[in-house]
Parts: sequence; C-alpha cells; structure tokens
Amino acid sequence: MTMPNTSPTTATEKKEKAAQPVDGKNTLTITDNRTGKQYEIPIEHGTIRAMDLRQVKVREDDFGMMTYDPALMNTASCKSKITYIDGDKGILHYRGYPIEQLAEKSNYLEIAYLIINGELPTKSQYEEWIDNVMNHTLIHENIKKFMDGFHYDAHPMGMLISAVAALSTFYPDAKNITDPQSRKLQIIRLVGKMPTLAAFAYRHSVGRPYVYPDNELSYAGNFLSMLFKMTEVKFKVNPVLERALDVLFILHADHEQNCSTNAMRSVGSSHVDPFSATAAAASALYGPLHGGANEAVLLMLEQIGSVNNVPAFIKDVKAGKGRLMGFGHRVYKNYDPRAKVIKKLSEEVFEVTGRNPKLDIALELERIALEDDYFIKRKLYPNVDFYSGSIYQAMGFPVEMFPVLFAIPRTSGWVAQWEEMLLDPEQKIARPRQIYLGYDIREYVMMGKRSED
Ligand code: CMC
Repeated sequence: MTMPNTSPTTATEKKEKAAQPVDGKNTLTITDNRTGKQYEIPIEHGTIRAMDLRQVKVREDDFGMMTYDPALMNTASCKSKITYIDGDKGILHYRGYPIEQLAEKSNYLEIAYLIINGELPTKSQYEEWIDNVMNHTLIHENIKKFMDGFHYDAHPMGMLISAVAALSTFYPDAKNITDPQSRKLQIIRLVGKMPTLAAFAYRHSVGRPYVYPDNELSYAGNFLSMLFKMTEVKFKVNPVLERALDVLFILHADHEQNCSTNAMRSVGSSHVDPFSATAAAASALYGPLHGGANEAVLLMLEQIGSVNNVPAFIKDVKAGKGRLMGFGHRVYKNYDPRAKVIKKLSEEVFEVTGRNPKLDIALELERIALEDDYFIKRKLYPNVDFYSGSIYQAMGFPVEMFPVLFAIPRTSGWVAQWEEMLLDPEQKIARPRQIYLGYDIREYVMMGKRSED
C-alpha cells in the first residue's frame, strides 16, 4: 500500500550533507570520566541511538547508560516519511508538499490519500478512493442506540472517543493488523465514519434526530448536512463554508509526532486494532494543551470580553496567572504556517457569516503579544488554534465541537502514522524506561503497627 518515496533528497539528508565531517567520520566519541573509557558511537541522520549508550558501564553487571528525556523533548521515537516541520522557519510539508500549496489547490480527501499512501492519486485512484470513503460513511444502527445512552449534556468529544472505541466491537476483523487488505479497509472505515460519529454526537447533544450521510455531497458538505439539516429534503451547502471547512481539514490532517499521534503509535504498538488506538489518540487530542486548545481560546476571548481588557489580560499572563491560549508551540518557534492560512480564511468566512466580534479581541491580543518582550524572548507566536475557533463559532459550531472538528481530519494522519509504525521493522511495543527514585526494599508493616503521625 505504501509507495516508495521518489523525492531525490529529504530535508534530513540535505542537513546531513551540510554537516559532513572533513575526515568522513560520522561518529560521536564519548569519554566516561568515571572510568576513563572512550566509546565511539555512530551518528545516523544527525542522531545517535540511545541503545548505543548501553555499552557505557562502570562495572560488567551495570545496566548501562540511559538517556533521561521527560516529555520526549529531544528524542526521535521513529523514522517517518509523512510530515516535515521546520519549527524555526515555520515550515510544514505533507509528503514533501508545502501546506500553503495544498490548502490552496487540493481538497481534504485528496490530502488524506496523499498522507496515507505517500503519493498524490491519479484520476482513477482518486475516484476509487472517494467512492470507497463515501461508501463507508454509514454506521451500524446500534451506534445510534449507543449514542442515545449518553446524558443529554454529554461533551461530544467524550461521545466521539467512546463511539470510535465501540467500532472495534462492530469490526472484529480489525484485529488482523498484519493483513494489508484488512488494514486498508479499517483505514477507509475510519476516515469515512468519523464525520458521521461526530455529527451524531452533536445531534444528540442538541436533541435533534440523527441525519444519515448524503453521499452525493462532498466530504465536508456531507458533514455539514449531517450536522445542520433540518426538515428540508436536501441540505443546501454554502460553497464558501464548505470550502473553508475542507481547508481547515487539510490544515489539521497531520502534524508529525504530536501528543495524539504519539498516543496512536504507542497504543498501536501493542498490536491492538486501529479503532481502539484511534480512541486513545482522540483522548490525547481532547486535552486543553493539544486539540482542546481552540475551545480554550474561545473561552479565553469570552473571559477577556472586550478589546479594552486585552492589556490587563496580557499583564496577568506575564505574571504567570494563566497562559495565552492559542500561543506557543513545542516545535514552532515562529508563526505557525497553518495560522497564517486560517487568518486569511477567516476573512472569507466572515463575509458570509458576518464578523465574529471575538476576532477583534484576538487581533489585538496578537498585535500586543508580538510586540512584547515576554513573548518575543520565548518565541511564542499564534498557533493553529488561535484563529480556528473564531471561524468555527461563526459557522455555527458550539465550542464543545471544536476538538471534534480537529479529530475528524487528524484521523488520516493517525492511521498513516499507525501503518508506518506497523510496517517499520525497527519498531516494537513502546515501552520507555524510568529512573527509579523510590524506596529501596522494605518489610511490610501490619496496619495496627503503623504510626498515625
Ligand atoms: N502563554 C504564556 N506563556 C507561555 C505560553 C503561553 N501560551 N506557552 C509557553 N509559555 C511560556 C512558559 O511559561 C515558559 O516560560 P518560562 O520559560 O518563563 O517558564 C516558556 O514559555 C516555555 O514554555 P513551555 O511550557 O516549556 O513550552 P512547551 O513546549 O512545553 O509548551 C505548549 C508548548 C503548546 C503546550 C504551550 O506553548 C502552551 O501551553 N500553549 C497554550 C496552549 C495551546 O495553544 N496549545 C495548542 C498547541 S498547537 C495545537 C496542537 O498541536 O495541539
């Protein structure tokens, strides 16, 4: 299923070429000052293998040297050919194609194909893919009963996470993760059904009847129909909003080894079925530091209330009283290229929906923050979530739906990364080490003999 990468040089290869040593030796020499021993460790792709450090020992029975890297700040956990980010320059590529070009020229399902299969589809491959995905948008009728079981005010993201996990019980064949045909089918099911699950979760939360998929519509158009159709026979999709949602889907499709993708790979490495692994990834995405950030941005803008209150809010953030949500990124130390596209997109959407008054607060926040030393020194710039919330809200989505709108397109990234992990002969079950700092061995004390102070 995965096609060979035909690009002559990858960004990593280019960097390596520039860093070639004069004597041709691509190694790292380490001296252990505890023993005086020297070790020569190979460097590959500008990286040393953590396992090569195990040979660094004080005694023969020593476990060997490990690396300590909480939050995996400087650890490459995989080799990947899917997404490239240069955080300092604010660059994002899917399979080598710049995000700006893809957002302008393509559509989400074509991008999902690209991300999953490695190459842009030919016309016939594209038609077959669209046909497959749109033919798998229906969900089992029992899922409706399952949805009905949720409390009336259940958060749609909680419902989506549970429903996607439940899909594993409807498709027990998904356990055949070593079978390429089965993997392909589950991938199509996941990409096809996520919008339906998401829309059903929304309809349940507003107490409206579920709307079945309309496969004559586009992927984004069908999603809007399942969300907002009332009594009309056919839902009329506004083409500007349909395109805007599709572009937002493109921008969210993948982002290399982020928290939820790491969860997908890590949970998938136990060889669980992809529906269960996707539920784990979606759970990671739900957190306010990850995909929940756009919801947090809107709540923050509501809390600020008006442009006049912006300076006081910034002062509080600088004093450590909360964060400026939608700002900062682990990888981007520059303007997030997705935020640039979204900022432009918001103007087109607001022409149809009317201007979201929160946009003025957001623009003022951005203006002040980008001139402020606190944010400049820490390289904190707007990220993808800073403007997406204002668009979603203007389009009629309640804030609880924001992380759901992130999860739908990110599914293509998750499944692509999951399959890449499974096909990588170097990957095994993910199992980090720890530095144990607890008690040494001690004797159990009976309850009656334990001191109360
Ligand atoms: N507002 C104020 N200060 C901040 C912010 C912020 N949004 N983000 C980071 N800082 C400060 C932080 O206090 C620290 O300062 P100091 O060095 O004085 O202690 C410094 O900048 C470095 O922060 P960090 O927490 O070590 O950085 P990180 O790489 O661990 O965190 C982040 C990245 C995205 C979690 C963080 O920037 C943040 O919490 N941002 C707000 C939430 C947000 O918008 N998340 C969406 C991320 S993009 C979507 C996605 O990929 O999921």
